[in-house]
Amino acid sequence: MQNQKRVFSGARPTGRQHIGNYLGAIKNYVALQESYQCLYCIVDVHALTTLEETKSLQDNIREMVLDWLAAGLDPEKSIIFVQSHVPQVMELHTYLSMVTPLGWLLRVPTFKEKARMQPQNVNYGLVGYPVLMTADIILYKADIVPVGEDQLPHLELAREIVRRFNGIFGDIFPEPEARLTETPLVVGLNGVQKMGKSYGNQVELAHTPEETRQRIMNAVTDPARIHKTDPGHPEVCSVFRLHGLFARAEETARLEEDCRKGAIGCVQCKRHLAEEVNTALTPLRQRRAELAAKPEIVKNVLGDGARRAGLIAARTMKEVREKMNLA
Ligand code: TRP
Repeated sequence: MQNQKRVFSGARPTGRQHIGNYLGAIKNYVALQESYQCLYCIVDVHALTTLEETKSLQDNIREMVLDWLAAGLDPEKSIIFVQSHVPQVMELHTYLSMVTPLGWLLRVPTFKEKARMQPQNVNYGLVGYPVLMTADIILYKADIVPVGEDQLPHLELAREIVRRFNGIFGDIFPEPEARLTETPLVVGLNGVQKMGKSYGNQVELAHTPEETRQRIMNAVTDPARIHKTDPGHPEVCSVFRLHGLFARAEETARLEEDCRKGAIGCVQCKRHLAEEVNTALTPLRQRRAELAAKPEIVKNVLGDGARRAGLIAARTMKEVREKMNLA
């Protein structure tokens, strides 16, 4: 029996997803669709707050949907759609902006960080990012929002906006609750930052086995280890961390011991990891190839998603306009 509660999450259209996205978000999306009514949204309008051009936007959306479907998001169970295809979100954003003090928005840590990173483009939309995010969630009256820790300040703000809006116009929206995904922090193959396309340190779900192998063979391991018989320090090694996420526990424990004793060299250890990752991703990659061969699939999934999301949105907006005396 499906729980009546609704789940909403949004992700920026970053294109092909990597194993950090998979372990940190997608896997959890897939699990939640068994017990809740879920909406998973590709937030193309949010992407515009940091983009200066939009050449790759459609490709990125398509690649992302292919990865989601291949990873097990089921369009029969979940509503999978693109934010701008349900334009009511922009209308709700405008109404919410009228009850959101500017001071709240200027204090948001992600705003301050983005403003620092793109001083030449501190646009109005960037300030309103969390207001649009609130509109995303409450347009569908979602109760639960699976997110990473970095999004908690946004969720807190969403709750405050909802309380204010409900206080003025009546009880319309549930206060959305963050559901922290137990994200193993996936460190990239250079062993420095977390895995991310912008760092070029990622293994993508759609990489071929050969590309995967090459990337892993180039990964940074324990820099103190010169000869393969030197004792290693698995705790600083990106390859060892990934073993922990892909290999069985006993296997990982054995590798750790061998590395510390200098009984296994990094090259051998990497070969082993590439094997594990490729084996784990084979079924997903096969499904992805089948889906990619039928161009209409993504289009149909998104069309159907926009239609179903649109029905919920229309109902909410009717209520909102009435309560606000706009209708
Ligand atoms: N801000 C989120 C991120 O950068 C994306 C997002 C937009 C989102 N709208 C949302 C997440 C609504 C959860 C709910 O990852």
